[in-house]
Amino acid sequence: MELRDGERKLIGRILEIYSYDMDFFANPFTSGESPVFGSLETFKLLFAKGNCSDWKKAAVLAYLNGNGAKLKLAVAEVIGDLKKDKLETSFSPAQVGSPVFKLVEGEISSLLKKNFSGQSMVSPVEVGELVGSSATAYLDAQEVLSKHLLVLGTTGSGKSYFTKLFLSRLLSSDPEVKLFILDPHGEYREGLLRFGVDESQIDELKIKDILLPVFPEEVEEQIRQEGYPSLVSGNTNEAKKNRAHLSRYIKPSLSLTGFREKDLKDIISGLSDREGEKEALLSSLSSIYDGQKDLIEKLESTLNSNKRVVIFNFGSVSEPSTRVNVSGLIMRELFDKAREDKKKRFLVLEEAHNFAPEKGFGDTSAGKGNLALIMARKIASEGRKFNLGLGVITQRPAQVSKYILSQTNTQVMFRTINSSDLDVISSFVEYAGKDIVSLLPSLQTGMGIICGMGAPFPMVVNIK
Ligand SMILES: Nc1ncnc2c1ncn2[C@@H]1O[C@H](COP(=O)(O)OP(=O)(O)O)[C@@H](O)[C@H]1O
Ligand SMILES: [Mg+2]
Repeated sequence: MELRDGERKLIGRILEIYSYDMDFFANPFTSGESPVFGSLETFKLLFAKGNCSDWKKAAVLAYLNGNGAKLKLAVAEVIGDLKKDKLETSFSPAQVGSPVFKLVEGEISSLLKKNFSGQSMVSPVEVGELVGSSATAYLDAQEVLSKHLLVLGTTGSGKSYFTKLFLSRLLSSDPEVKLFILDPHGEYREGLLRFGVDESQIDELKIKDILLPVFPEEVEEQIRQEGYPSLVSGNTNEAKKNRAHLSRYIKPSLSLTGFREKDLKDIISGLSDREGEKEALLSSLSSIYDGQKDLIEKLESTLNSNKRVVIFNFGSVSEPSTRVNVSGLIMRELFDKAREDKKKRFLVLEEAHNFAPEKGFGDTSAGKGNLALIMARKIASEGRKFNLGLGVITQRPAQVSKYILSQTNTQVMFRTINSSDLDVISSFVEYAGKDIVSLLPSLQTGMGIICGMGAPFPMVVNIK
């Protein structure tokens, strides 16, 4: 809506509309007047204000519409002062009694292609329509890529749909950017194809459900759990030698890991053992101890793929440590590559609470042993220097590392009901007012609030 106060034009957003029947509220003891609202005289005063012809028109329209005792009250939030295609912060309220109009779309269309700093968007990507109008809403991909994106909302609220739509349009609007997607449900390949991305642009690696330790302590723990603690625990020469053996091969880095040459079974075969325990240990190993070498090779070749979209499909991985270790190795490699060549890359972390939790979420650790968390934090804080952007998608913002959340400067928020998630949202989404956050629980699927550096102002958008 537009509020006209003399020469000044203020743009606002209607948050709620209440419909009242004055008869219903009429109080018989106050001679027909409502105890809830001001007296009829107050309303007359408003309509009679000055010589404003707009108010007179409004009064005539109200009379012709014959609304009787029915009254509608709208609550609106002022977004800013419109000055020559630019939206500036409003420093003072409009005068009481200033008339309100429905916004003329042409008037804001140029506004919608500006980012939060009021600059024209460098690469506007169409994301849908402003709710309540047919105006097209855009996100500035430049801001998203350089300052990270957060997409949140409860399960089924439209996060992944939005992300696929955004990524597919990003690919056509920016010929340089390369996408890397960590896809826990294996849904992105098909989703992107549906949004028109060409099959020849996509490379997908399906991650096998095998163990891929990145810290020697993980294997030591595994050996203890299998029932052979003396092989790796304590101060015996043998245990010390074995710990050194494991740390020589098991490393949190694709280029250093011993799995480039050997499978886990081979590494364990190299342990020293006088009691004959190793054989028993090896025979109790299941097939998940095989295939590390193959996986490392595939990870490397997929990371070097010349396709524009690279998907790591974790759909069949049930082992939580594999999920965080493999994604941690991928992120580390991407970070190192970005540091070297500074090419434009965008990394998508779907279901980020599984990779980079605030506290241990489910089976995922939040401590030093979580390579994915360590690398996601690093990319969140330093990625922008090397053109490595991060997209964090989550249904549980309260469970995602606060540090990572605080590094995302554009937010797309879908329906959110959980009160601890709503608390987190109000505490870190600095661009959106309280009122707009209060809309979150009632948003329909596919309707999102977009705010932050990549949007002109907090907008409610039908994603399409
Ligand atoms: N903007 C939209 N337009 C049409 N359908 C949508 C839209 N957003 C979501 N959907 C549909 O709603 C369902 C849930 O959306 P999805 O994005 O998978 O949810 P989430 O990732 O938040 O769990 C999907 O079937 C999806 O196709
Ligand atoms: Mg999803």
